[in-house]
Amino acid sequence: MPEPRPPDRPLEPVSAELRRLIDACAAFVVEQIDLLPTLPSWDVADAERVAAGFVEPPPEDGHAIATILERLRPAVAKSFNTAGPGYLAFIPGGGVPAAALADFVACAVNRFVGVVAAAPALARIEAQVIAWLASLMGYPPEAGGILTTGGSLSNLTALVAARADRLPEDFLKGTLYISEETHLSVIKAARIAGFPERAVRVVPVDRRCRMRPDVLEGMIRDDGSGGLAPFLVVANAGTTNTGAVDPLPEIHAIARRHGLWAHADAAYGGFFRLVPAGAERLAGIEAYDSITLDPHKGLFLPYGTGCLLVRDPETLRRAHGGRAGYLQDVRIGEGAANFTDLSPELSRDFRGLRLWLPIQLHGLRAFRQQIQEKLDLARGAYDDLKDEPLLEMLDEPQLSIVAFAVRPDDRGAELLRRVNAKGRVFLSSTTLGGRYVLRICVLSFRTHADRVRDAVTAIKDEVRRLPQG
Ligand SMILES: Cc1ncc(COP(=O)(O)O)c(C=O)c1O
Repeated sequence: MPEPRPPDRPLEPVSAELRRLIDACAAFVVEQIDLLPTLPSWDVADAERVAAGFVEPPPEDGHAIATILERLRPAVAKSFNTAGPGYLAFIPGGGVPAAALADFVACAVNRFVGVVAAAPALARIEAQVIAWLASLMGYPPEAGGILTTGGSLSNLTALVAARADRLPEDFLKGTLYISEETHLSVIKAARIAGFPERAVRVVPVDRRCRMRPDVLEGMIRDDGSGGLAPFLVVANAGTTNTGAVDPLPEIHAIARRHGLWAHADAAYGGFFRLVPAGAERLAGIEAYDSITLDPHKGLFLPYGTGCLLVRDPETLRRAHGGRAGYLQDVRIGEGAANFTDLSPELSRDFRGLRLWLPIQLHGLRAFRQQIQEKLDLARGAYDDLKDEPLLEMLDEPQLSIVAFAVRPDDRGAELLRRVNAKGRVFLSSTTLGGRYVLRICVLSFRTHADRVRDAVTAIKDEVRRLPQG
């Protein structure tokens, strides 16, 4: 058979061409980032039409990079500006540019970090990042964990580890305990892990939206004596709705007394531990069996960066490890963490660099300053709004979320619409105890005092202009 000819359309750009492509993308990125402060906080007018423009078959022949980027420009613009300083909705983060550089480098070198032997130093970088995060949470040196794509996957992995550690193979008698304020991802995780709906016990919260340990203990006792197998309690270290921190030491003590795995969902709140005021509020988290963290929230990284920490990495290995013949010769890294043995994933991105490079470039101090600023900004917004008679503040911010309702009747949705319509900030709402509640979540590294002031001013102006009910 004649030797196959190489394709005449190679996928490898030669160096000058590669540099030209990189330069074009770099120019696009710089332009996008420079635009952020001046862009509206959201703009989805006509977004459907832009979206429809992407419904097409794949091109048989490629296009110029300039043409491709030109098409992306409106697609990026027509969105909630989640990267911008005015984004105070849901849980922001911003996305530090250094992480994008890390992704670029990681994808370009495209090494495999799933098993240590394939890239020992790169796997070490990722393990080191995990060790840093563990130590920042007060975990001992033998702790470990994995990087995930986000809090939902971290919660799922924690639940599966707890199930394997505390329940028999036939686990359907198992029950787990969450609060009324626990993130939906935990309920989803229980369902995905094979638990029936009745296995998820919902513990009521107090006036400050914190799980009530007294009720929790009663529920565990009743379930245990009723022949069920309580195995896991999930405490919130910063709820999504209001940033409430459950009584971590009390819940942990109950878990210990009854032999339950204690998991802390610190996806939103965990990184506040980097500053003394936050560490005080999160005291006790270091005793938990596992902790979910979302660097794409409190460390301001781009979406797709989560972490699960465990005090005992063997628990992850027991839940996820296994043997595959085709990997038999690359398992020489035994002892060091082969990430594939600790998680559901095998091939995946080198996400460790996304954390490592920004921390190397900026140093932890830069992150600590940002985190302290967010606590202060939320406190300031609360102080500025609390004397407004048309608003009812639900609580002092426990972390960086300010939640409030409109008085006397419920015109919250209209207030939200009007504030957001100005385009300077973008807030979101939630339901608490059946009430419509607005919230300001200050977490982006691009959000500073000027933007929070704009939010407060818009809220005060617009609530006074609302038609009286
Ligand atoms: C407390 C909490 N847990 C879990 C999650 C889910 O995280 P992710 O969106 O990264 O999957 C969130 C997301 O906002 C959260 O706030």
